[in-house]
Formats: sequence, C-alpha cells, structure tokens
Amino acid sequence: MELLISNVSLLLTMDPSAGGKLGEIRGVSIAFDGGKVAWIGSAGEAPDADRVVDGSGLIGMPGLVDCHTHSLFAGSRADEFRRRLGGVDYTEILEQGGGILSTVAATRSASSSTLASILRERLEERLLQGVTTVEIKSGYGLDVETELRMLRILSEGEWPVEVSRTFLGAHAIPKEWRHDRDGYVKLVLDEMLPAAAKLADQVDVYCDRGAFTVDESEEILTKGIALGLSGRIHAEQIEHTGATEMAARVGALSADHLERLDDRGIQAMADAGMVAVLLPGARLYLRDPNPPVAELVEAGVDIAIATDFNPGSSPVRDLLACATLACVEFRLSIEDALIGVTRNAARVLGRESVGWLGVGSAGDMALFAPPAGEPTEYATLIQYMGGHRARVVVQNGRLVVDNGSLVG
Ligand code: NIG
Ligand code: FE
Repeated sequence: MELLISNVSLLLTMDPSAGGKLGEIRGVSIAFDGGKVAWIGSAGEAPDADRVVDGSGLIGMPGLVDCHTHSLFAGSRADEFRRRLGGVDYTEILEQGGGILSTVAATRSASSSTLASILRERLEERLLQGVTTVEIKSGYGLDVETELRMLRILSEGEWPVEVSRTFLGAHAIPKEWRHDRDGYVKLVLDEMLPAAAKLADQVDVYCDRGAFTVDESEEILTKGIALGLSGRIHAEQIEHTGATEMAARVGALSADHLERLDDRGIQAMADAGMVAVLLPGARLYLRDPNPPVAELVEAGVDIAIATDFNPGSSPVRDLLACATLACVEFRLSIEDALIGVTRNAARVLGRESVGWLGVGSAGDMALFAPPAGEPTEYATLIQYMGGHRARVVVQNGRLVVDNGSLVG
C-alpha cells in the first residue's frame, strides 16, 4: 500500500452499511493505493505501507465537497458591503450596474496569471480546511472571451483540490447588453454554450429578479443539458419564480438557494430526485428568510450544503461553518449536515466515487482533531462554529496535508 492512516479514533465513512447514520467505525485504519481507498479494517490487521500516518485522537471523514462556489474572480466589493450594511439592497446595486457587474469589470481586466494565482491561494486555504473537491462557476466574464478564459483557467491549471467546472454565462445581463437582453441570451445559447460544453462539467443559470427569467433559463438549461452538461439552477432566492419546477422538468440535478421555495417546488424536487443545495452564507448576508428545510427533509429531498463563496452575497470560505449555520438556523440535524457537505454534495456534482469512504471509493479524506478539551465526537465539529483546520488530508490517495500544513 502507498499510504496508511492508522488507528483513526473515529471514522465517518458516510456509508450507512458500515453502521450508524454516518457509517461510523472507531479505532480503524485505512489504506490508500492507486489513488483510491484499498483497505479499511481494524488497526491490528493493517497492511504494510510506504508511508504511515498516525490517526489517533482524530475524527476522519471523506474529503469535504463544496458543491457551489464562485471562487474565480478579481476585484473587491468592500464598498458594496459597506453600502449594504447601510441598508442599500443587493438587487438594487446589481440593477444599477454594481454588484456582480463590478466583479465582472475587475475579472475581465485581470490577466489569466493573476486570476490563477489568486485562485491557487484560495484553494490552498480550502485544502487546509479539509475540502478536497470544489465546484467553481464562471459567470464573472459575461462575454465570450472572458467566460471561456475562466473555464480554460479552471481546466488547464493543476489545482490543490479537485475542481468541478460550471458554466454560468447566464449570471447577469452585462452592461453592454442592457438594452438588448434577447441578444445576450442568444449569445449565451449560440456562441458561449457550444464552446463551454467542451470546458465545463455543468451548466447553471441565475434565475431571479434582476437576472434571468424562467423562460430564458429553461432555454439555456435545455441546450446545456443537450450538449452533455448536467444542469443546476440558482432558484427562488430573492423572489419566488417557479424556476425549481422548470428545472425539475428539464432534468437538472439540483436547485440551489431556495429561500422562497413553495410546496409545489418541494414536490417537484422530490418527484424528480433533485438535490436541494442550501447556501446559509448567502441567506445570512442578504437577510433572506430561511428555506423550507423541514419540509424538504419530510418530502425526502436530499440536502447538500455549500458556501456559495463569492465577494458579494456570500463572502464565506468555511464549509463546516455553513454546516453549523444550516443546523442552527434551518434546524437541520448534525448528521444531515455532515452528509450534506460530503456524500450529497458529491451527488450534486455527479461524482459517484466521492463523498464516502470504502474500498474502491476516491482516495479523498480529511482528519480533524476535536476542539481543545473535547472528546473525539463528531458533533463537536458542528457545535463549534467554523475555524476547523484539518490535521491530515489525503487527496487522490496522496498525503497533501500533514500536521495541519501543506505537504511539499
Ligand atoms: O449565488 N445570486 C447570484 N450569484 C451569486 C452572487 C454572486 C455575487 O454577488 O457576485 C449567489 O448568491
Ligand atoms: Fe451562487
């Protein structure tokens, strides 16, 4: 074996067949070979390995998955944050050409190497938090050149984490198309999407007041799905639009935000087997109402939680803190929150082998020490909000964080 993490105090496999809701096993060793998990068993029977890392005192789980972020951007929105604290509305700022559009201006004028080096720093920080897979959307280009440049940066870089690429050309109507929105939608459909389909895994649309209508979103999602991308949607955040029912009908994998989701939307998601992606950072910063989480759970809809990391509505980089917010504010259970940042988040990205640990699963794992003075009990990682740094991280079967620091 290439790598053995020995004697992990508590392992959450996220595989319910292993026991408990989270597939919990105590005092276990786990071996990696060929980029995957190759063996899990009692510490006394562990195979030999080239490298052995002591897991005692640690809580292990699959590498965390952040399934909704806007991590690739340049510029600052500190002024906007100040204005919003003063009472100015997020959508009003966007409609006046600020908000998302100010990040678009900064991103267009940044060089690819600048964008890549900012992104690298951001992703290294995420890896140190135990996040091994991050979804990243385009959407701060909004012209053919910059949208494709963003997707090329994501595709061509060697990133510290596994990156899942999403085309979000329909994030806002850019200034130069303000008086011809049909023209912009046509540009997305005819020029951006066919090229983006070769550089992205998913297609997403921001369907809301101030952004795209349900009809426009349907056209874009339908075409993206026909081109082989899986569908996502920003839905029912600022206003209820019915976007979720449309997304269910066209076969999208998830609907995200959902603060204003109604009963019909919940039923449509349940019937279609969609995942609900909760973004408690955006809910907090925009002071929106809570999404109907108890009703979603009751209807049997799988829940994922993500940061929605972006400089405007959710300048939040801490995925476990978002899991805590989902518990405290939305009354999600601790177990559902942990599944929501691992197994269900991987499902949103269509990554079957990610988000759980078992022989043959992806070799992605994060190990955390409980907060000082606390027992090795997974509830503590949710009870204490945020700031958890992984002690050890394995990605693709390789040791990438050891003793809380990046390896190499
Ligand atoms: O998911 N709502 C639209 N898009 C992002 C915000 C992006 C931004 O403000 O820059 C979101 O909340
Ligand atoms: Fe978003």
